[in-house]
Amino acid sequence: MKLILHVWRQKGPNQPGKFEKYELDDVNEHMSFLEMLDVLNQKLIAQGQKPVAFDHDCREGICGACSMVINGIAHGPQRATTTCQLHMRHFKDGDVIYIEPWRAKAFPIIKDLIVDRSAFDRIISAGGFISVRTGSAPEANSVPVPKDVAELAMDAAECIGCGACVAACPNGAAMLFVAAKVSHLNLLPQGQPERFTRVKAMVEAMEREQFGSCSNHRECEAACPKGISISFIARMNRDYRKALWKTVEHQGGKAEGISQFRG
Ligand code: SF4
Ligand code: FES
Repeated sequence: MKLILHVWRQKGPNQPGKFEKYELDDVNEHMSFLEMLDVLNQKLIAQGQKPVAFDHDCREGICGACSMVINGIAHGPQRATTTCQLHMRHFKDGDVIYIEPWRAKAFPIIKDLIVDRSAFDRIISAGGFISVRTGSAPEANSVPVPKDVAELAMDAAECIGCGACVAACPNGAAMLFVAAKVSHLNLLPQGQPERFTRVKAMVEAMEREQFGSCSNHRECEAACPKGISISFIARMNRDYRKALWKTVEHQGGKAEGISQFRG
């Protein structure tokens, strides 16, 4: 099939960017979207032009690297699908496709379609871990976890940190990502000792990174390639409220911290 591509080209972080138009023949419907971009890049290289810079790693829907907005939709038109697992059979001969980077203040553009998502790493560093010696793998039944709790934790753990939720949110909020990362640890017995310090530290790190606030548009849930539910945001907010009350109790009843609560 033949495609008309309008691709965002930007030489560097502080450079102006613009859409460049490319025509691509012989796109096979079995190609993934990234393979289609590989074909475009081979063509550009053969013509002595700079290839389009885009992020990718696993190409199996696992790493979360393949961030791009396709025709205005984070990860493109196929629901619950990463860009690397989106196939060209979902497009038609002659289609016009606009390809842009994630756009959010907290994700500055590095080049073309690549953005800096290290803000996510800093949020994880603030509390997205368990600081106990885990040793070797324990016997499976030594820490009993009810099946429904284990499954809910696994649902949250599906988050691949791609950032589509931020790109899709009109406020540029990272609540779905942070809620998933908080929840998958806070639900499990191993995560209980740091449950409240974790949620407080991660929410505060999120705010430092200048992500927007959640106002329940639910675009994050619609764009998430892993189908993470916004119910995890409510769960995170409940834990965050409890964490603030615990801080207040610890400080002898002064209630200043409560005004920070994100509803
Ligand atoms: S919550 Fe979904 S959209 Fe957001 S980073 Fe995780 S996998 Fe990506
Ligand atoms: S390249 Fe790893 S999820 Fe797409």
